[in-house]
Amino acid sequence: MIEGVAAAILTNMRRRGLLARMKKLLKPFTYQSTESVKELHCEQTRLRDIAARVGTPAYVYSGNHVIGRYREIDRALRGCPHQVCFAVKANSNLALLALLAKQGAGFDIVSGGELYRVIEAGGSPARTIFSGVGKTTEEMDYALASGVRMFNCESESELTLLDERARKAGRKALVGLRVNPHVDPRTHPYISTGLRENKFGIPIREAEKLYQRAQSLRGIKLEGLSCHIGSQITHLSAFSQALTKVVELANRLRAKGCPVRHLDAGGGVGVAYKSSDVSPSIAAYARTVLRCVRGSGLKLYVEPGRAIVAEAGVLLTRVLHIKAEGRKRFVIVDAAMNDLIRPSLYGAHHDIRPVLLAKDSAKQKQMVADVVGPVCESGDFFARDREMPSLQAGDLLSIDTAGAYSFVMSSNYNSRPRAVEVMVDGIEWRVVRKRESLRDLIRGERV
Ligand code: LLP
Repeated sequence: MIEGVAAAILTNMRRRGLLARMKKLLKPFTYQSTESVKELHCEQTRLRDIAARVGTPAYVYSGNHVIGRYREIDRALRGCPHQVCFAVKANSNLALLALLAKQGAGFDIVSGGELYRVIEAGGSPARTIFSGVGKTTEEMDYALASGVRMFNCESESELTLLDERARKAGRKALVGLRVNPHVDPRTHPYISTGLRENKFGIPIREAEKLYQRAQSLRGIKLEGLSCHIGSQITHLSAFSQALTKVVELANRLRAKGCPVRHLDAGGGVGVAYKSSDVSPSIAAYARTVLRCVRGSGLKLYVEPGRAIVAEAGVLLTRVLHIKAEGRKRFVIVDAAMNDLIRPSLYGAHHDIRPVLLAKDSAKQKQMVADVVGPVCESGDFFARDREMPSLQAGDLLSIDTAGAYSFVMSSNYNSRPRAVEVMVDGIEWRVVRKRESLRDLIRGERV
């Protein structure tokens, strides 16, 4: 009865276009109209105002969007005992980690540096998983002393070292064995991690024997399995193929008397970088994962990064010059590949929108151009042959979907100071990482 009423309300809302409008409101970056122009906002803050105060290039994040996405994933998995561990590598800004920590999020880390950030942000080591294929002795010692919840181990050599370090520290480390299920995630080869030829995990055929052998190590308590097959995955069938294999392995191990208490399903959920992209909904992803673990009694861990933060961020940049050479037109902006390397490194697409648009944008003149940065490499581009509204020097642009793997992958190449980061909350905003200065560029160097 109640379901029927809810369905009728939804149908009615859909008919009146309310659902589409509500969805738009939930988007963190939207155009809002003033008398003569349409202006891109983050939540209720004008991006133009932020750029005027802090300059460009500037990363801007919607804190409420980050919280909303985390909660959505957490809620979608409530059918099963679980912990959502945000993959810190996607965005390790302290303010962003602190927001997630306050929501009760756990963290997935891959270095001592990321652990340090989690602790500094007020995150709980007891809810932190240490993943990664090459942990050093120092990193293991630091993680053991901090009391991280668990280590995901990926080789026999690593298990042996962790066992030794844990015994030395007088501790017993909780461990999950990362298996490589040999499943094609159908993503960019650089971020595909679950195929035999990738360096990650223990080949699933060898995992059973190693798991049994490692039960005798006194410094570790090996009682779970983990599996991360790649990133920006849009075909959910890849997750079910991989997880089905891992749950079968768990059952085989249990039949042999080995304890298997948890399964870490990794991260990997893709997002839409352009409007024509088809990306899985959180609900559909959660259904897929839950279907695989249902009835297994395994506690579930997931490690989403991109799905929580990608759409929560943009990179603001200003047009420096327009240059036309024959039929080719270049829009030269003040951000570069050192600020956002995804287009150069993975051929990734990021939508680029002017922050100010004429009210009647249908009438705005269009042009086709390459959007490029000032770095001295032809690989320094954000878009090639992109159709966009006609631009001129001084215009402010938003490079979209830049909340994940963007600032974190930035560098000082060409001695360019790293960009400022800003966090928005409704009509308020604050700088959460200062723009680097020239002094910062040479910190630690000696003549
Ligand atoms: N867990 C592990 C063990 C991982 O290696 C990764 C990502 C994640 C979780 C989070 O995956 P996500 O949910 O964000 O897909 N720089 C690349 C992405 C590299 C991903 C590396 N591992 C990019 O810009 O696309």
